[in-house]
Amino acid sequence: MNSMVEFYQPQADFGTPSSKSTELVTLSIDGRNVSVPVGTSVMRAAFEAGIKVPKLCATDTLESFGSCRVCLVEIEGRRGYLSSCTTPVEAGMTVTTQSVQLAKIRRGVMELYISDHPLDCLTCPTNGDCELQSTAGEVGLRDVRYGFAGENHTQLEKDDSSPYFTFDSSKCIVCSRCVRACEETQGTFALTISGRGFDSRVSVGPETNFLESDCVSCGACVAACPTATLTENSIIESGIPEHSVTTTCAYCGVGCGFKAEMRGQEVIRMTPWKDGKANEGHACVKGRFAFSYATHKDRMTEPMIRDSIDDPWKRVSWDEALMFAANRLRAIQEKYGTKSIGAISSSRCTNEEVWLVQKMVRTGFGNNNIDTCARVCHSPTGYGLKQTLGESAGTQDFASVADADVIVVMGANPTEAHPVFGSRLKKRLREGAHLIVIDPRRIEIVGAPHVRSDLHLPVRPGANVALLNAMAHTIVDEGLTDQRFVDSRCDKVAFSNWLTFIQQPENSPEAMEAHTGVHADDVRVAARLYAMGGNAAIYYGLGVTEHSQGSTTVMAIANLAMLTGNIGRRGVGVNPLRGQNNVQGSCDMGSFPHELPGYRPVSDDAVRRSFEAAWGVTLDPEPGHRIPNMFEEALSGAFKGLYCQGEDIAQSDPNTQHVEAALESMECLIVQDIFLNETAKFAHVFLPGSSFLEKDGTFTNAERRISRVRKAMEPLAGKADWQSTLGLAQALGCDWDYESPEQIMREISALTPTFTGVTYEKIERLGSIQWPCWDEESEGTPTMHEESFTRGLGQFIVTEYVPTDERCSRRFPLIMTTGRILSQYNVGAQTRRTENSAWHEEDVLEIHPEDALERGISEGEWVGISSRMGNTVLHARLSQRVRPGVVYTTFHHPVSGANVITTDSSDWATNCPEYKVTAVQVTRVTQPSDWQERQKSFDVKQQRLAKDSVIG
Ligand code: SF4
Ligand code: SF4
Ligand code: SF4
Ligand code: FES
Repeated sequence: MNSMVEFYQPQADFGTPSSKSTELVTLSIDGRNVSVPVGTSVMRAAFEAGIKVPKLCATDTLESFGSCRVCLVEIEGRRGYLSSCTTPVEAGMTVTTQSVQLAKIRRGVMELYISDHPLDCLTCPTNGDCELQSTAGEVGLRDVRYGFAGENHTQLEKDDSSPYFTFDSSKCIVCSRCVRACEETQGTFALTISGRGFDSRVSVGPETNFLESDCVSCGACVAACPTATLTENSIIESGIPEHSVTTTCAYCGVGCGFKAEMRGQEVIRMTPWKDGKANEGHACVKGRFAFSYATHKDRMTEPMIRDSIDDPWKRVSWDEALMFAANRLRAIQEKYGTKSIGAISSSRCTNEEVWLVQKMVRTGFGNNNIDTCARVCHSPTGYGLKQTLGESAGTQDFASVADADVIVVMGANPTEAHPVFGSRLKKRLREGAHLIVIDPRRIEIVGAPHVRSDLHLPVRPGANVALLNAMAHTIVDEGLTDQRFVDSRCDKVAFSNWLTFIQQPENSPEAMEAHTGVHADDVRVAARLYAMGGNAAIYYGLGVTEHSQGSTTVMAIANLAMLTGNIGRRGVGVNPLRGQNNVQGSCDMGSFPHELPGYRPVSDDAVRRSFEAAWGVTLDPEPGHRIPNMFEEALSGAFKGLYCQGEDIAQSDPNTQHVEAALESMECLIVQDIFLNETAKFAHVFLPGSSFLEKDGTFTNAERRISRVRKAMEPLAGKADWQSTLGLAQALGCDWDYESPEQIMREISALTPTFTGVTYEKIERLGSIQWPCWDEESEGTPTMHEESFTRGLGQFIVTEYVPTDERCSRRFPLIMTTGRILSQYNVGAQTRRTENSAWHEEDVLEIHPEDALERGISEGEWVGISSRMGNTVLHARLSQRVRPGVVYTTFHHPVSGANVITTDSSDWATNCPEYKVTAVQVTRVTQPSDWQERQKSFDVKQQRLAKDSVIG
């Protein structure tokens, strides 16, 4: 089903935002009776009744402004002419939108605009898709009495510094939509109107341009501009699109809806979908602009095989590659046993694709050796929330933040890593919500334009549990517990045990200060604000989970929410900001070695029987290997074959040299990816993957929202990823006959209780749907645990603080922590192949000026970073964002080798690596590390072997 492919047309614009009121008023517009919610503008009421009022400065994504005067209407009983965009409806109002006098006024206004506008409509890139042009037509403008020779702005210079859009000031009508979009929608405040009167101009700041300015290239101003002043470069180069396909972004876990606007098979523009519930028409630089990777020259489009990683690749047919892979896997199993092979599913792929991979492992491989990249990011979320609340997922939808009074952001950097949610968050903060940031770094929202955190608690990396325990201790100690909630909703015995634990003096903020590095008074203030400030919501990220106590920290967060009754309604909750586009979905689909789909243990006989009945095989009741176990087993010689779907473990997993050794020891490594990634350089079979633009399916975002992914172009390699897995399973002897992802979803719904009511038809009708969706009538669950917890009674769990073994020493006196930046994504495989590199060409090491001074390090110098695991070399950036004693880097470039440094230390419950805490030393150096030299020559060799590939 692909019914959301349509001829290109701009998305409907009702002029002003909808009113949230439930009270209706009735008025008459041009003789038609219209009923709309109180607070609706006359303009919107007219549009909703199918009456179009000319407009320029109004758009329904922004509050009305009332500057252009094109939208004037007559209202019975009111003097003069009123702008319909700023006039709210009233009961009994009688409005006239068309009259001789109104037409004359509108034409007069348009005449003034057009007299100062270049007359190049026919050659303008947005000809046919320009509101100024269409409004001139709507008001019947035929000539301009003032002529065009007077003083004007038509010769102003363009700013083409942005790689993605051009600012042609000569076409600007100073309607201010761009400025308001940057403020209201994005929250960056990069634009202003400088000058006055005739000299008024949109400006990105004095003496600067878009690229150099504070602009984060979200594209909101471009989308809002009613003229060709702000235009995407792709539109300038290729013209306006001819059809569009509604789909979902394949970068982060926000899951923004997009219109992929196309010309034939070419994407011309990605326009954020106004009806997308995760993003409501907004986007960030990645989803909006960074799509050229999908057709980059590095795309691999032919299956390849080879006997050894020292051999050149042979390009072969799909059938030959799949048969080669299947034969090798079977030979390995014959020699080393059933459990000697496994798979890693991709959180970049669709639910349907992931479903097939885990099913192939369980039915075709005959074991449970399936894991996913959530192992290295949010596996503690799954574990911690399941134990405490009963469901391995966040509790709210994103829109819920609009009702939060106190927002805690912990170990997450929303404006960089989840930017569209970051914009929602900033909007709520500008409206007056309080903000507590718990993070070792001074992240942007600690002090962004028009946003200030009430408290920034710069906790020492590794001491999250100590800090949360200290907050909980304060709440109990100061009598701030929501006892009614605890008594009615939580397990009494568990709470009593926990209470005894948390009241211990060693959990007080004062006692914990030595561990957290955060002043006890600040912790007490934060605890009071969280407990007493109204609706309090916690948003957290990998700074919570990627620790030796990641699961404990998640449980401590859930404890806090239950203790204060901040769960089960809008504006509150426990909200993991999931990293990759479908990391929630890949977990839901049963990608863990101990759980079948829907987070049900493989050891549960009844659950296993339901799958055995449907799949016609006997399933292994024993949990399989997690990713780190696969590596260990590989090095011990017992694990020899791995199918790795869209996951670059050689770059993303910790202790790179250990991972590389494990990969080298494999007898059959099958990599399915769109690029020859770092892992593929160790592979024996390469199956070319498909980008999100090339397939149908669904992604599930951080809100549990299941959204459709729709094919916009044919798969470059001839198969979508689900078809490759299907082929491999068939080559292994599985009797599968799927014809479409929709058919796979029917199987998912039939076998997964939380997905029972999920169908493509329902997603089509509703736009998206949030699981749990227990039956056919259900339209999903925006807020979880409303009446009771999924597990029944909420379970307080004792969260003892255990310092990590990864300690500073005289040899390694600093703590390195890692994170992401806005323009690059994860291992950078996609974003490095786009113009986003204009903002981030390389990973650098942030170091506090005091630590740099002590080591004689200056800005921009090469520094060697060594840990107990290895060393690498990066350029230094002196920054006060990190506290003394802490250094920070990103891992978007393979050559950076950030994971050469990180250790095998991991979360006690889930093995999620402790990426956020590595004891290191930093020194000045003059040359790359040994590992970097080796990586470079291995890369050169493998690129050559791929380039020299022969037809097999
Ligand atoms: S750039 Fe576009 S949106 Fe901004 S003021 Fe000019 S015409 Fe309006
Ligand atoms: S692209 Fe986004 S951040 Fe940049 S000026 Fe436009 S609205 Fe502001
Ligand atoms: S916020 Fe995430 S989902 Fe939305 S456009 Fe950006 S990368 Fe894509
Ligand atoms: S659209 Fe109403 S004043 Fe501009």
